[in-house]
Amino acid sequence: MVIIAPSLLSCDFAKMGEEVKRMEDAGADWMHIDVMDGHFVPNITIGAPVVKSLKKVMNSVADVHLMISDPLKYAEDFAAAGADYITFHVESDSDPVETINRIRELGCRPSISVKPMTPAEVIYPYLDLVDMVLVMTVEPGFGGQSFMADMMPKVKAIREECERRGLHDMIIEVDGGIDTNTVSVAAKAGANAFVSGSAVFKAPDAEEIIKELKEKATV
Ligand code: DX5
Ligand code: ZN
Repeated sequence: MVIIAPSLLSCDFAKMGEEVKRMEDAGADWMHIDVMDGHFVPNITIGAPVVKSLKKVMNSVADVHLMISDPLKYAEDFAAAGADYITFHVESDSDPVETINRIRELGCRPSISVKPMTPAEVIYPYLDLVDMVLVMTVEPGFGGQSFMADMMPKVKAIREECERRGLHDMIIEVDGGIDTNTVSVAAKAGANAFVSGSAVFKAPDAEEIIKELKEKATV
């Protein structure tokens, strides 16, 4: 199963609802929503009320990526807003096990993310508890950065560790600099969900690029 998740961070914020529709019509599987608090990362983006409004027009999965210092505190707001997957960072201030349990209790799918400088092993204690791992392929905070190919051994190590534990359904998502060239590199390393912001939104034909991303991600 290959998942393509356009990152709404790169959409036209003046017409977000239409952008969601445009991406869904173009074949996107999930909508990736980047939540930044100006503290965990330097940027501030969107919050739970915006997710709630978007959900009214969204037929795809809401893949909420919390780049915030206290995900445990805000998990409830995003669950109530309609998030399907809630990803938080292992580097945040919240206790990972408590946060994972809270997200599940709220009826959402928990996912844990690692920044580029964080080694894979840091999340191994939580692998049996989550439905997805998000490996950042850029420093979180901004769209439009270059893909860090040196994160591929990390993706590979996490995939192998999941297989060793019998976690064959684990989704490994990559986020940052994914385009029609880098998608195959990440897929070969073991990723099966691909966030793409600028490449998808800047493309003249969204349907064409999503199709190409899917083809190239199928290994
Ligand atoms: C970065 C965000 C990404 C970003 C991806 O902090 O988590 O989701 O929007 O954008 P591109 O594909 O442009 O790197
Ligand atoms: Zn993201």
